[in-house]
Amino acid sequence: MEMITKSIAYVGVDDENIDLFENQYHVPNGMAYNSYIIFDEKIAVMDTADKRCAVQWLENVTEALDGKSPDYLVVHHMEPDHAGSIQLLAERYPDMKLVGNKKTFTLLGQFFPTLSLPEERLVTVAEGGTLSLGSHTLTFFLAPMVHWPEAMVSFESSEGVLFSADAFGKFGVRHADEDWTCEARRYYFNIVGKYGGPVQTLLKKLAGAAVNVICPLHGPILTEDLGFYIGKYQLWSSYQPEDEGVTIACASIHGNTLHAAHVLAEILEKKGAKKVAFFDLSRDDMAEAVEDAFRYGKLILAASSYDAGVFPPMDDFLHHLAAKAYQNRTVGYLQNGSWAPSAAKTMKVVVDTMKNITQVEPVVTITSSLKDADIPALEALADAILA
Ligand code: FEO
Repeated sequence: MEMITKSIAYVGVDDENIDLFENQYHVPNGMAYNSYIIFDEKIAVMDTADKRCAVQWLENVTEALDGKSPDYLVVHHMEPDHAGSIQLLAERYPDMKLVGNKKTFTLLGQFFPTLSLPEERLVTVAEGGTLSLGSHTLTFFLAPMVHWPEAMVSFESSEGVLFSADAFGKFGVRHADEDWTCEARRYYFNIVGKYGGPVQTLLKKLAGAAVNVICPLHGPILTEDLGFYIGKYQLWSSYQPEDEGVTIACASIHGNTLHAAHVLAEILEKKGAKKVAFFDLSRDDMAEAVEDAFRYGKLILAASSYDAGVFPPMDDFLHHLAAKAYQNRTVGYLQNGSWAPSAAKTMKVVVDTMKNITQVEPVVTITSSLKDADIPALEALADAILA
């Protein structure tokens, strides 16, 4: 049994075989579904795991309990990647109570229509509610829309442990050999990105808590330099750019728009852009393109015209950005149109719906392929986006 502190055990699971998390995000390094047990006079299991890993998770729990029965299952979040094994545990331990808020139990009934629990097995907590386990006390903070309406976090004050639900989680198995920030940022903007306001509210609620350890539901347990991780969440949830640079997102049918976008990238680099992040939206990871659009303050949208609109991979990208409340950035356009260019005006319709976007001129139009005569316009676009 792996102990996180002297009385808190880790019983989560690494899912190394999953290809798409939430059936949409590529996770080359798998995914962790974290779960914990607090041992005290009363024993509390903190969340379950995706049913994909239910067998392994239950083995971990059974081994850690070593013949004892849990008194509580605390349900911080009802999304199936954490709640998927609730029924299994609730039926195995008929005296165990479930701890959640009002909305938790509404969702519980919806996800588990065949799980019938008497009222006395449901402990409903509200904002600031507490649960005493003996020397450990959990205080609950509701975290609506981080990233579902029933989400909540809990803070165990005797050891300073924050059970943060999805917050501070990342893609990848728990000990994935990779930078935390990169996969935590991709996770944050694609999964929680729309809900910057609720994240800020939660951070304010937690400002007074003396946190020593953050136990998220995904990714590593955070024990050191917590200000770094909290600072990243402050920044990301404020929708302010993180690093200086330009993202070029390109949707090209036959490669001519892609070539023009690559030439623009070279011009940007020559003119001193600190970083140019380039995405071929037909091939590259959409979630990473979304991540970098948020990471950097400037974005070039380069696309072919198509069906009197824009080539669909760009449409898809822009709708991802709009759905995640993309804002406070500078945007420029490069379009290709062989007879009636329509990409830029179609892209602009979506960008116009976003908050506080500076749209720079000139909009560069190439006809079928890039010519020498187009270079001055690319230079002007580069100057405008870097200004
Ligand atoms: Fe990790 Fe929102 O579930």
